[in-house]
Amino acid sequence: MNFQEEYKKIISCIKPDIDAFTGFSAGMFSRDSDIENILLDYLSQPGKLLRPALVFLFTRALGLVPGERHFRLAFCIEMIHNASLVHDDIIDSAPERRGQKTLHTAYDSRFAVIAGDYLLAKAIETVSYIKNTEIIDILSNYIKMLICGETKQYFSRYDALSIEDYIEKSKNKTASLFLAALESAAVLNGSKINCSDFAQNFGITFQIHNDLKNFTDSCLSLSEKTCDDIKNGTYTAPVIFYMKENNLTKINNPNDVLNCPNRAVFEEKTRGLIKSFAYRAIENINCLEDNQYKKAIIDLCNLYTGDRT
Ligand code: FPP
Ligand code: MG
Repeated sequence: MNFQEEYKKIISCIKPDIDAFTGFSAGMFSRDSDIENILLDYLSQPGKLLRPALVFLFTRALGLVPGERHFRLAFCIEMIHNASLVHDDIIDSAPERRGQKTLHTAYDSRFAVIAGDYLLAKAIETVSYIKNTEIIDILSNYIKMLICGETKQYFSRYDALSIEDYIEKSKNKTASLFLAALESAAVLNGSKINCSDFAQNFGITFQIHNDLKNFTDSCLSLSEKTCDDIKNGTYTAPVIFYMKENNLTKINNPNDVLNCPNRAVFEEKTRGLIKSFAYRAIENINCLEDNQYKKAIIDLCNLYTGDRT
């Protein structure tokens, strides 16, 4: 089974929630509006819906059934995520996402900025119906954290980042939205169980795994992402390990690292880093009662370590 098939299998226990959420999301856009018409097509490849899946898994793990408020929250988080990706793809000059042209490639950057802004407006509109100021507070703080992470990435371009700096940046730019999703879900569920440590460690796991995949794909010429990142001065975990090993403060030619004969060493070190955060995330949910949903959350963590057989 490939990664995608494994993922689907793990979250099959919440398939009814994911199906209901997909229907809910489709109903939030209208073909009558020019921008929503374009966004409906753009979002027709929705991605893994990882953040909504975690909202539903944590809710079910507590013995509760996700309802309209959970769908509103999950939709809000997913739209913030999509908005950030539309803008991220402009910043990274990425030609494709989810197997289709990015919005700035299909149209131009001016339109893509507007479209990202619109997705943020949809996120706020949808969550406002929950009428919960605690959730608004959580969301706004974590959106600021996400943007601060991206700002840090912008201003630290071409810096020789340490692994600690890279983890801190990943916590801000990526774990923030997992924190927003799970802390808001805890408010909805009236749960006092600490989900923040899990969200942080899972989010970091996810980002390092994403960076390693981009690196290995670039080495196999399946993607240009790491190559472009290096040219833009954004150094991810395997590249940072390479730079440290070779006492480098800058990389002039991406091929130096992508064709490096011992690049497997840097990939292995990165896998070790993924495992250390994924194992912490698993420990963080010890407090949940044992059931199929908790098992699915653990299986998700192990999907990123590659430990699942
Ligand atoms: C993907 O990272 C991008 C992010 C995790 C955050 C991007 C945030 C912004 C552009 C700030 C604007 C935010 C909002 C809410 C509009 P990546 O480039 O490492 O991942 P990739 O390989 O999927 O592109
Ligand atoms: Mg990107």
